[in-house]
Amino acid sequence: PNKLKLYSYHKWIGMTVLLLFVPRLLWRLTHTPPKALPMPAWQHRIAEGTHHLLYLLMFLVPLSGWLMSSAKGFQVVYFGVLPIPDLIGKSEELGDLLKEVHEALNWGLFGLVGLHVAGALKHHIIDRDSTLRRMLPFGK
Ligand code: HEM
Ligand code: HEM
Repeated sequence: PNKLKLYSYHKWIGMTVLLLFVPRLLWRLTHTPPKALPMPAWQHRIAEGTHHLLYLLMFLVPLSGWLMSSAKGFQVVYFGVLPIPDLIGKSEELGDLLKEVHEALNWGLFGLVGLHVAGALKHHIIDRDSTLRRMLPFGK
């Protein structure tokens, strides 16, 4: 029973990430962030590419979880009160495949977040520029 409870919490948090992704993307598309600080062109390209992939995975990771739950026949009931429609019909085979997909995408996300945080720390500790500080409300 504890396992089922933890799965539910996992799904609620994941669906919340998916929900928040929508206003975040709309905000980002209608607002221009500050220009990147001076750095070699290849570093800028990697940083931008990482940001794009992070956005992509912030969408695909929870979506693959939702699809997996649908295929496995375990409907998400948001916070135990709001039943979320299944995206696809029940299929054990597809459910197993989507579990692999969810896991693989998560490894990708894990690696990218690691690279992203390493980049932020490199700017802060080695380059000693304000890339990280200017993201923080109290760092300005
Ligand atoms: C940002 C969102 C999410 C993240 C970072 C995330 C991350 C993970 C990770 C790391 C695992 C373990 C994978 C493994 O090693 O097997 C997992 C499993 C799982 N996730 Fe997610 N997840 C997210 C969203 C969701 C959503 C929205 C759902 C469903 C609505 C979901 C359903 C599941 C289920 C059912 C499992 C267990 C699979 C199994 O072992 O049978 N996840 N998730
Ligand atoms: C300790 C953790 C983290 C730190 C220190 C950090 C740091 C930063 C910094 C300094 C920037 C600004 C880069 C710039 O000015 O060009 C940034 C942007 C960004 N971060 Fe993080 N970050 C963290 C975690 C995450 C996570 C977990 C995600 C996503 C799963 C993420 C996604 C992004 C994205 C997408 C941008 C680009 C924003 C945009 O241009 O719209 N970050 N991060």
